[in-house]
Amino acid sequence: MEQIMIYHQELKALLFILMLGIQHCQVAKASFAPVNLEMFNDSYHQCLSVRWSVSGTAYSSGSNIIFHIQVSRDTQMNIIWNETYISKYLDADNRFTWSWDSDVPLECYTHFVRIRGAPAGDELPEWSTWSQWKAHHGKENLRAKPYIFPHEKIVQEGSSIRFCCIPGRDQKVASLWYGGAWYHVPVNSSGTFEIEVHNVSSTNAGGANVICTTTNGRGLPTFHGTVLFVTKAPDEPRNMSCETQDLKTLICSWNPGEKSNLDEDRAPNYTLHEWFSQESKLCSRNECTWPIQRNQQIYNFTLVAQNQLGKKSVGIVVDATQRVHPLAPTGLEFHYINATNVELRWTFTADYTGLLLLCQTELQIKSRHVEHRNSTIIGKAPTSLYTVTHDRLQPNTNYMIRLHCMATTHLSTWSDWSEQLGLGTPEDVPTAGLDIWRGVKSSQDGRSVTLYWRPLSAIHANGYIVWYNITWRQRYDQSNYQSKVVYEPNNSAQLLIDGQAYVIHITAQNGAGSSPTSEIRIPKNDENIDNSQIKEERAYGKDGGIYVSWKPHPAAYHGYVVEWCNFPKSQHCDLQWKKFNASVDSDVIRSDAFNPGERYTFRIYGSNEQGEHLLEKKSGYIKELACSVAMSLKVDAIKADTVHLTWDPYQRDACQEGFITHFRIYLKSPGGICGMKGSTEHTLTDGNRVCMISINDTEKKNFSINPLKPSTKYEIAMVAWTGGGEGPLEFTKVRTQPDTTAVIMAIALPVIIVSIMLLQLLLLGYWKRQWVKNVCFPDIPDPNKSNILIFPTLKEHEEKVMVPRNCVTQKIEILDQQNQAALQMSDVPRKESEREWNCMGEARDCANMDSNLHDMKRAGPLYQNCDHTIDQTQSAIYLEFINRNFCGTPEDAFEILTSEGYQPQREIQPMVMPK
Ligand SMILES: *[C@@H]1O[C@H](CO)[C@@H](O)[C@H](O)[C@H]1NC(C)=O
Ligand SMILES: *[C@@H]1O[C@H](CO)[C@@H](O)[C@H](O)[C@H]1NC(C)=O
Ligand SMILES: *[C@@H]1O[C@H](CO)[C@@H](O)[C@H](O)[C@H]1NC(C)=O
Ligand SMILES: *[C@@H]1O[C@H](CO)[C@@H](O)[C@H](O)[C@H]1NC(C)=O
Ligand SMILES: *[C@@H]1O[C@H](CO)[C@@H](O)[C@H](O)[C@H]1NC(C)=O
Ligand SMILES: *[C@@H]1O[C@H](CO)[C@@H](O)[C@H](O)[C@H]1NC(C)=O
Ligand SMILES: *[C@@H]1O[C@H](CO)[C@@H](O)[C@H](O)[C@H]1NC(C)=O
Repeated sequence: MEQIMIYHQELKALLFILMLGIQHCQVAKASFAPVNLEMFNDSYHQCLSVRWSVSGTAYSSGSNIIFHIQVSRDTQMNIIWNETYISKYLDADNRFTWSWDSDVPLECYTHFVRIRGAPAGDELPEWSTWSQWKAHHGKENLRAKPYIFPHEKIVQEGSSIRFCCIPGRDQKVASLWYGGAWYHVPVNSSGTFEIEVHNVSSTNAGGANVICTTTNGRGLPTFHGTVLFVTKAPDEPRNMSCETQDLKTLICSWNPGEKSNLDEDRAPNYTLHEWFSQESKLCSRNECTWPIQRNQQIYNFTLVAQNQLGKKSVGIVVDATQRVHPLAPTGLEFHYINATNVELRWTFTADYTGLLLLCQTELQIKSRHVEHRNSTIIGKAPTSLYTVTHDRLQPNTNYMIRLHCMATTHLSTWSDWSEQLGLGTPEDVPTAGLDIWRGVKSSQDGRSVTLYWRPLSAIHANGYIVWYNITWRQRYDQSNYQSKVVYEPNNSAQLLIDGQAYVIHITAQNGAGSSPTSEIRIPKNDENIDNSQIKEERAYGKDGGIYVSWKPHPAAYHGYVVEWCNFPKSQHCDLQWKKFNASVDSDVIRSDAFNPGERYTFRIYGSNEQGEHLLEKKSGYIKELACSVAMSLKVDAIKADTVHLTWDPYQRDACQEGFITHFRIYLKSPGGICGMKGSTEHTLTDGNRVCMISINDTEKKNFSINPLKPSTKYEIAMVAWTGGGEGPLEFTKVRTQPDTTAVIMAIALPVIIVSIMLLQLLLLGYWKRQWVKNVCFPDIPDPNKSNILIFPTLKEHEEKVMVPRNCVTQKIEILDQQNQAALQMSDVPRKESEREWNCMGEARDCANMDSNLHDMKRAGPLYQNCDHTIDQTQSAIYLEFINRNFCGTPEDAFEILTSEGYQPQREIQPMVMPK
């Protein structure tokens, strides 16, 4: 029982707890229902705000509440926006607000909002009941007249925009127009018409039109419009800086960036805020002035650039005493001036008391040469005079002068320049003496001195030189002097002096006075000095000039003068000079007048007490060129193997363009073989191969080329070489003589050979004379053996005169008439001796005879035949008769001569029968 009781009580308690829970739930549901909805709109930003509170106070303060908010746009209550929104619940302020950005202008449609709430944090929130729909009315029901929205809105470039047009009463929207395009309303649509334009582009200052056409019942269209502005958020201002010109106001300026496309009302505005004073000021687009307070030195500025689309800001902290940019000096004038000094005066319109100013004066001569000079000046009250003096000006010079100033504080900047002031300094006496030189010529009446001087440079002239005052006197006679005035622009003068030593002075005069005196001395005329002995030496081109050096004479001379003509070939040679002190012994002489290939002669003088003495002569070229004239070459003797050449010994002077270093002879020989003495093979620039002979001795006037080939054509050219190269080439044709000795040799050689052969035979004959004698003239002649008296060529009428004498050489004359006739027919004149000795010729003869008379054996050669049968015997005869040792008796002779009487010879008779 008791157990049942206990159970019953427990059940009751459980029930109670359950009931409590249910009760609690019911209370919570009621308390989160949003109540008292209020609506606010920001038409321009198309933003709709809702404010509400929640009913009941059961919920603990500080907890979060979640709201579900829905927005619908039409009467069908189609939800266009769902959002949950969590907010803290505060007992003291039971108010919640939520805003919503509409994509369409709020005026286009009526919007409805409802909200329900629940405690935040639950996974499945127990929502309160929805609030009533709260409406925000558009203009679509007004219909008083047509409306177009948005109205005069400013939007970001590139964004998308929705337009709507609401027709008036009894009207229909026909179309919308924007950005050059028409948007037509669908046929069966009525009421509000909406379009969306994407990526709108920047408009001009007045904005872009949006046009809506409507039709009324009668179908007449009417036009309604509004404007849209498309632009960008402002650029951030750059390079902001502030400075003061008068220590009263700060001028801040900046670069605002690109100018807005919209008009002033819609363009970004610029406001300057100062944090210490907490003051603000509206500024112009790029500049602002801010008054400087006596008790404020530092200013902390923030500049804000702002338009409807956004804002940008920059900050700067300025120390007004450092950032000084003085005003431009005003009223600049000169107060005092002489040839070298000027005093300038000016004012400032601002009060610079307490400031130290640095002023810079610009001195400009003829818009070319510019000089700046700094001066420091203490700042003064306004309109006080500031002065500065400048010295070291150039006399007789026109200056353009202006100045600007800055404070000596480290952030100060230069003021603008003052106006320019033109001023001219007066003349001053010339500050330098003239550079003078002279030429001395002896004549019958004495000596003529030509003085030369260089005009003073503008820096030294200090004005216009009007005349030159020349005075001269004998060196040892101080009392008597002569003087002469030479007017500008002459720069030379001629004086006549005698043979004594002279001193000459020259001064240049301008409006302010005379220059320092220049002096030159002329030594006594010394007959003993012969300048023609000085040999001309060579100078060399160097770095575009001519390097001239001389032997120093430190004891004798205190300086040197080098003299030359700029135009040595011209009548007016334009004498030049350059002076050197004693320590100099060389220089590169340069002149614009110097030309390559032209020889310049330099005379070097030493200066001492007496004057100048010629020491050396040098000549040279800035650059040597090749000779322009061809060598005049003469071929004056031609032999078979030699050609002899001569040339003009003055060729060296004919070539003006350089020093001749050597000559070259070029020889074109037919075979191209260079056998001549001293020759080498060489290829000319035109590619021809020649033989070259170099002649290094330039004094040489002739040359023989050998050995050459006789009767051969050669081409010969001679060129002069200078430091500039080879002169022009001109080939001369030469033909060598024929070789006479060769001709002589051709004739003499056979004679010699025959003579030698004869000699050999003679010797042979002498050596074998016993044998010959035995054969030809045996003591007892054997008729069968002896051949000697066979005279195959003898005729019956031949006379053989043999005059026997005792022990003397006998002469024998053989007249071979028949043979002569035969020889005459063959047109070959032949002497007797020739015939006898020319075996070949004889062989022919005896061969004829043999074939006629003998039955000769054909085996041996004819020559052999001849040799054995005739020649040998004939020679034997001759040899016998000229043999001094042979002493024939008259009987012998008779025997020989009377062939009839010598019977053994009979056999041979047929041989001499005429044919
Ligand atoms: C909003 O939420 C409700 C309930 O969750 C849903 O029925 C409705 O379709 C939603 N509407 C939109 C536009 O999301
Ligand atoms: C200037 O003002 C800005 C904004 O209040 C502040 O942040 C900054 O520190 C200030 N600078 C100085 C030097 O006072
Ligand atoms: C500057 O322009 C913004 C936006 O157009 C405007 O809200 C603000 O009032 C303007 N400021 C001044 C000082 O005119
Ligand atoms: C110019 O004036 C200054 C100052 O009076 C003086 O020192 C100077 O000698 C003068 N110069 C000439 C060339 O007169
Ligand atoms: C003059 O002053 C300026 C600024 O201090 C300086 O730059 C310039 O070198 C000075 N000129 C002379 C000639 O002293
Ligand atoms: C030239 O100088 C001499 C000597 O100093 C002087 O006597 C003469 O008057 C001067 N001549 C002129 C024209 O000034
Ligand atoms: C001439 O001079 C050249 C170059 O210096 C040299 O080679 C040549 O041997 C010289 N000839 C004679 C003949 O001296």
